[in-house]
Amino acid sequence: MTAEGRAARSMTAPLSGKVAIVTGGASGLGRATALALAEAGAEVVVADLDAEGGREVADIVGGHFRACDVSDLDANRALVDFAVEHCGGVDIAFLNAGVSTGCGVGDDFDLARYRRAMGANLDGVVFGTHAVLPALRARGGGSIVATASLAGLASVPLDPLYGANKHAVVGLARSLGPALVPDAIRFNAVCPGYAESRIIDPLRGMLSEQGMPVIPAEVVADTVLRIVTGDGAGECWFIQPGREPEPFRFRTVPGPGKPAYS
Ligand SMILES: NC(=O)c1ccc[n+]([C@@H]2O[C@H](COP(=O)([O-])OP(=O)(O)OC[C@H]3O[C@@H](n4cnc5c(N)ncnc54)[C@H](O)[C@@H]3O)[C@@H](O)[C@H]2O)c1
Repeated sequence: MTAEGRAARSMTAPLSGKVAIVTGGASGLGRATALALAEAGAEVVVADLDAEGGREVADIVGGHFRACDVSDLDANRALVDFAVEHCGGVDIAFLNAGVSTGCGVGDDFDLARYRRAMGANLDGVVFGTHAVLPALRARGGGSIVATASLAGLASVPLDPLYGANKHAVVGLARSLGPALVPDAIRFNAVCPGYAESRIIDPLRGMLSEQGMPVIPAEVVADTVLRIVTGDGAGECWFIQPGREPEPFRFRTVPGPGKPAYS
């Protein structure tokens, strides 16, 4: 998009004047969300390990690309510094980069795969949040959306370690959400079911055998946009085919009973 096009679009757009970082923005859900945020007027910084794909998306949205391994704390700090230097600040962080695990915890355990998955899916959210908080505070507040998954709300026998790190992201969102409200920073998570991206390539046969529809990436992007432009905090929005996305209503833990011990 040309600078003139961007200027014309941003006069009416809801995220006009806002700067958004999108990790894992080279592909799939991150790519679709980078496009949606830019369409809504945001200046987008695409961050990814994949420089070719990331640059392509940055070109499409008239934004920026920064190579970043989200599992590296210093790389997250450098990403935020880049956004502040080139865009003047940060208002929105979509912490989305992630991978499937490729191993279990039994004979198929593989330490390198485990570290890679925890590094991208959990450290990437924790480090990204840590790195971006000062920039959001400097703007008087902002919005962080982390990509969890339905695997963060339900059991995942096919990839238990993925279930573990996505449950951790859900727990982080529920806990950090209220904790950051006094800073006017809204932390939420998005929890899609099977959605269109290359991460589901190994599962396509099974999904089609089961007649399981795949969610278009744009539906996830629209949900992220709703969260960013909304006013919730600590919410975990689930996305299922054929249902309106909404915050998951967690069951309240029963309060204490009358213990037999004192
Ligand atoms: N597609 C689905 O069905 C689905 C469902 C629920 C949640 N998710 C989650 O959505 C997020 C996006 O995945 P996707 O489905 O778009 O898959 P994808 O493979 O198309 O995109 C993931 C992107 O993350 C990047 N990435 C991976 N590790 C990285 C790292 N350490 N540092 C920086 N970038 C890294 C990849 O290069 C890729 O561009 C992931 O967190 C994934 O777990 C996907």
